[in-house]
Amino acid sequence: MQVTGKVVVVTGGANGIGKALCEAFHKAGAAKVVVADMDADNARAVAATVDGAAFKCDVAQEKDISHVIEETERQFGPIELFCSNAGIGGGFDPMSVNAGGASDEPWQRSWAIHVMAHVYAARHLIPRMKTRGGGYFLNTISAAGLLSQVGSPAYSTTKHAAVGFAENLAISHKAHNIRVSILCPQGVDTNMLRSIPKGPQSGDGDLSPEQVANDVLAGLAQETFLILPHPQVLGYMRKKTENYDRWIGGMAKIQARMREDFGT
Ligand SMILES: NC(=O)c1ccc[n+]([C@@H]2O[C@H](COP(=O)([O-])OP(=O)(O)OC[C@H]3O[C@@H](n4cnc5c(N)ncnc54)[C@H](O)[C@@H]3O)[C@@H](O)[C@H]2O)c1
Repeated sequence: MQVTGKVVVVTGGANGIGKALCEAFHKAGAAKVVVADMDADNARAVAATVDGAAFKCDVAQEKDISHVIEETERQFGPIELFCSNAGIGGGFDPMSVNAGGASDEPWQRSWAIHVMAHVYAARHLIPRMKTRGGGYFLNTISAAGLLSQVGSPAYSTTKHAAVGFAENLAISHKAHNIRVSILCPQGVDTNMLRSIPKGPQSGDGDLSPEQVANDVLAGLAQETFLILPHPQVLGYMRKKTENYDRWIGGMAKIQARMREDFGT
């Protein structure tokens, strides 16, 4: 798809990758870019620079997502591209003594933001898109959803679930001309990355959010399911599926190195 002339929503659009997506869509001639974020001040600031609109929205709340969809369509017309991009990086603990040890609260928050938010967007948009003959979902996930994020069980698990949902979304609605892409970078230079200690996610170099947004425009133009700003990730996926046990062993070595580095 080309975003020119399209109404686009970006959750988590107030900062980082989402902000760069809003700017790239505006430059590419989107008809309206809607910035939906909990960070209302920055959402308004980004909207002002892209001649867009801002909504304060907690993507963990279904009513907030349905409100953004309803109001956007009422004010600006049919949403042709919905980007579920908001995410949180909490729960990183390289010294964790138990992968299942964190309390329920951070798990449920990650589950709500990384998975249910994507489900809610589909729940409220699929009927509208089917009626008008198509649409597009871009879900920002992570290379952690295809591989793993060492030291972050909740992030890795919920990002894997997000891949699972996106696959099913694409399979279920290909016949309705509804397309899905998943954006799965490694390190991107944003507040989220800066809030956690440097680790293997930066092993192939951190990209700028603007570079990632350009890769998204190219991926959307080709309508590829998988958008990999770090092409190395495809090789890691192949290694994982070729020999799962060797891959687990390699990741466990990275975990051991991290424990040594953080323990000293
Ligand atoms: N930065 C990286 O290295 C990296 C790598 C892979 C994937 N990602 C993913 O990219 C996406 C964007 O992350 P980023 O790096 O730009 O981080 P960021 O912290 O710069 O931006 C995230 C944005 O999401 C918003 N947000 C968080 N929770 C929200 C909620 N409940 N409702 C609405 N908005 C909410 C924040 O206010 C913020 O504006 C996330 O899904 C993240 O998991 C990031």
